[in-house]
Amino acid sequence: MNILVINGSPKGENSTTLKLTKAFLAGIDSDESHLIDIITVTTAHIEPCRGCFCCMAKGVCAFKDDMQAFLKKYLAADVVIWSFPLYFYSMPSKIKTFLDRLLPIYLPYIVTTVDGRVEHPTRYDIERQKHILISTCGFYNIQGNYDALLKQVEILFGKRFISILCPEGYLFDVHIMQKRTGRYLSYIQKAGEEYFTQGYFSEFTQTKLNELLCPSDLFIEMTNSGWMK
Ligand SMILES: Cc1cc2nc3c(=O)[nH]c(=O)nc-3n(C[C@H](O)[C@H](O)[C@H](O)COP(=O)(O)O)c2cc1C
Repeated sequence: MNILVINGSPKGENSTTLKLTKAFLAGIDSDESHLIDIITVTTAHIEPCRGCFCCMAKGVCAFKDDMQAFLKKYLAADVVIWSFPLYFYSMPSKIKTFLDRLLPIYLPYIVTTVDGRVEHPTRYDIERQKHILISTCGFYNIQGNYDALLKQVEILFGKRFISILCPEGYLFDVHIMQKRTGRYLSYIQKAGEEYFTQGYFSEFTQTKLNELLCPSDLFIEMTNSGWMK
């Protein structure tokens, strides 16, 4: 199985989100022959789409940059792991740039699907592809914080998508939280194990992943006391 990780944190290797993603990948059985590729889009040369639609007509973008190689990896992937922090209730800008540059995958025609969605058909058969969103954020809430992003990903990937969302992300850098964050990482590893053997997370693991690292009132107190000196 080809697994492509798209790391969209501007913090690159120091990304908290990437730490979670690596724990998820650690759940993969080492006996299985998976090919894992991690691309960091923030340091890559990816020109913003200029909207010329030349790619839709020809299947090839007018720009010659890192997206050429990334597109090949993307199309070859059976599982795409989107690993990025939440920025303004959405995705960091370089991830959006990457997403816009996926336009060569699509044909120019417009179709209405059986469930009433309007979309461009794909030029390649990527229906087999599964998508996983792994994301951390700075607030303590998922509802009202991730709503817009989750809706967008649902429209893009429908039922072929699953997510791990971890609020209170900065706690992974807090020494006294190590025991708790370590436990959370072990549940993510379990989620990886379950995903790559059965294709979904068990109810138990999902419940553990939904638990906050720290109660919200204490979290706010800790965070604000650090900033309000
Ligand atoms: C520009 C910017 C916008 C952000 N917007 C949000 C937000 O809308 N909601 C939130 O909970 N956290 C927000 N955060 C906090 C990050 O999501 C959080 O620090 C995350 O854990 C960083 O992950 P990383 O280490 O993988 O980059 C924002 C941070 C930055 C720098």
